[in-house]
Amino acid sequence: MTLQRCTDPAQAAAWCRAREGTLGFVPTMGALHEGHLSLVRRAAAENDHVVVSIFVNPLQFGEVRDLENYPRDFEGDCDLLETAGASMAFTGTLEQFFPGELVEGDLPREQRVDPGEAALGLEGEFRPGHFEGVATIVQRLFTLVQPTRAYFGAKDYQQTLVVRTLAERMGFPEVVVCPISRETSGLARSSRNTLLTPEDREQALYLSQALFAARERWRAGIRSAAALEQHLRDALASSTLEVEYAVVRDPERWSHVPGRESLERAVALIAARAGAVRLIDNLELHGPPSDALEDLPFGAGL
Ligand code: PAF
Repeated sequence: MTLQRCTDPAQAAAWCRAREGTLGFVPTMGALHEGHLSLVRRAAAENDHVVVSIFVNPLQFGEVRDLENYPRDFEGDCDLLETAGASMAFTGTLEQFFPGELVEGDLPREQRVDPGEAALGLEGEFRPGHFEGVATIVQRLFTLVQPTRAYFGAKDYQQTLVVRTLAERMGFPEVVVCPISRETSGLARSSRNTLLTPEDREQALYLSQALFAARERWRAGIRSAAALEQHLRDALASSTLEVEYAVVRDPERWSHVPGRESLERAVALIAARAGAVRLIDNLELHGPPSDALEDLPFGAGL
């Protein structure tokens, strides 16, 4: 199928309105990798049309350097999307997404969307304003595309909680969270991985290794967040990573910080810098595996 390419969000919205049938939507910031393409393929399997947005949203970046360094390749991304089965891809400028709403090139604070309680702590703490920026653009994207279903990767765990709340508030779309896509080394796929030096890349492996080691502890019967977090810290101790957080939370009681109590469900989350690159990763410790790393050599016994 030939991919329709739009460089104007208004034109993209008109294209979406003209479609009949179900519409799957994959919002991205481009620099697409296998993780994004797996979302597109799933959306294509479950919907009549698949729309992908490619927009490096300045509202969600705190650091100017991070925004400037973020990899961009619209045409290359579109070529990949065509092969993965997407029907339309669109991009635009901040001005085009918020026509007539910017003041001195920026969206005033009062126009931004409240990301709700799920935004508190962790990413919300280390990246102030980040989720406000995410909620603002995602609300605008949902309004433009009017999707039946929207697909997000579980790597941005806290983002999926924010987006679910937003979709509930808006009354649509159905939010589908897909498993983390990992390299065979265990490294969670991320557009930022292209910025890692070979040394940083080696250090980056500690994140998934620590998470899978914590899952082994969970399977061995350890249920307290405090004990599991100690295991995360131990597993990260010999790295040169600059760890921002390595925590365990109950996904259904997000704002509660668990201590020594026994948890029924748990997700372990890590954010750390490998050199200049900030990485995040997570793993649900309970229930069926949330991704396909069961058989990797380090999946057991660390
Ligand atoms: O996860 C991302 O790539 C971004 O946060 C999103 C959802 C596309 C909003 O800019």
